[in-house]
Amino acid sequence: MGQLVVEGGRRLVGTVRVGGAKNAALPLLAACILAEGPVTLDNVPLGLRDVRLMIQILNVMGVRTQVLGRSTLLVDASGPISSEVPDELMSQMRASLFLTGPLLARTGRAVVSRPGGCDIGERPIDLHLKGLHALGAGFDDAPSGRIVAAVRGSLHGSHVYLDFPSVGATENIMMAAVAAAGETVIENASREPEVVDLAQFLFQMGADIAGAGTDTIRVKGARPLTPSNHQIIPDRIEAGTFAIAAALTGGDVELTGVLPEHLTPLWRKFDDMGIGVDFVPGSDRIRIQTQAGGLKRPCSIRTGPHPGFPTDLQPQMAVLMTQAEGSSTLVETVFENRLRYLGDLRRMGARILTDGHMAVIHGPVQLVGSSVTATDLRAGAALVLAGLVAEGETRVDGLEVIERGYECLSERLGALGAAAVPSVEDPVA
Ligand code: UD1
Repeated sequence: MGQLVVEGGRRLVGTVRVGGAKNAALPLLAACILAEGPVTLDNVPLGLRDVRLMIQILNVMGVRTQVLGRSTLLVDASGPISSEVPDELMSQMRASLFLTGPLLARTGRAVVSRPGGCDIGERPIDLHLKGLHALGAGFDDAPSGRIVAAVRGSLHGSHVYLDFPSVGATENIMMAAVAAAGETVIENASREPEVVDLAQFLFQMGADIAGAGTDTIRVKGARPLTPSNHQIIPDRIEAGTFAIAAALTGGDVELTGVLPEHLTPLWRKFDDMGIGVDFVPGSDRIRIQTQAGGLKRPCSIRTGPHPGFPTDLQPQMAVLMTQAEGSSTLVETVFENRLRYLGDLRRMGARILTDGHMAVIHGPVQLVGSSVTATDLRAGAALVLAGLVAEGETRVDGLEVIERGYECLSERLGALGAAAVPSVEDPVA
């Protein structure tokens, strides 16, 4: 297992460019199956493990891809496409489930596995299946343990109410709905920016989609799609992680290539904590300007579906809370098992009380370097941040988990003045 070794105590200063959003890129890559012709995607975070895995899966299924530049990818699904998502690859990444909707739309059939991915609790797929079923798909369990989905008759529009505004289920249903005759209405849909980005791509290709970004999405399906190029939105979670790292170290960091409005909940919490953020209206730059030891006020967060506080920034915020003066609280409401990393933070000296999905964090404390483990992607990022302000050396095991969502993290932190280096050669690089 790869390890990142972080030497704490350095202030981050400089500029960092934020990449394209992983969580937008993955469904967009799956959606390319709907386009029977070449599509060029820009701002693709090609260095991310999850993105490389999705491209590999598409290739095995018969989709041709070609890297045209540092973050530009041509995807051509005009040839014959296999309906089977390779089991071994799918078990490594939950987002491969996104292929179910487009495959049903394109081939009428999808053979998928129960997905893998980050271990942050029970992650059922009932909402995906319920929505696709309403549109005319049936599901059988194959003896191999795989799920065989097949369209019974033809896909038809339907009303789907999601018990929870699941990001993935909204995206999967939207992608199947573009091929379903009649109108599909998704109620209690996810309002995440990544859902809007996917809808925008489908719209550009000729799909009739309205309401993305609200809790009711309407799709009038079975319209011909024409391949279209698309630029992926910036990664708000990566931007938020760097912003928190800057604030944590009392740094002065400019982020470029961002859409600041996607991170409003984080900026509100920065206000509460007294962290200065400079916005330049109409620009893709923001500057986090703080001073060493300048973090004074605690805050409270409660994660929730967008526009609530993003669960993917909850662990990083917990680290920031260890440096605030007083008691901060966090409540995780999206995933059931997303506080496991707190044990490692405690071992680094953090003062944390937990009760179910809630934690109370008392600060400020001087964290102390330790050997810790990235139990999931964002927890791993949080432990790296903790290492940035810890006394001495922090060894974070599970570098490959962190690389699922952060491109060249050690190099980019290094360019800002941090000392964070991998301790072994990355075997997949
Ligand atoms: C996406 C993001 C992930 C982020 C999460 C919440 C991608 C690739 N990943 O994951 O980074 O943390 O949104 O913002 O976009 N649920 C069900 N049944 C289902 C589906 C989900 O009960 O069929 C539950 C989940 O267990 C979880 C909650 O709904 O408790 C949210 O999950 P969901 O919004 O679906 O997250 P993902 O799409 O998996």
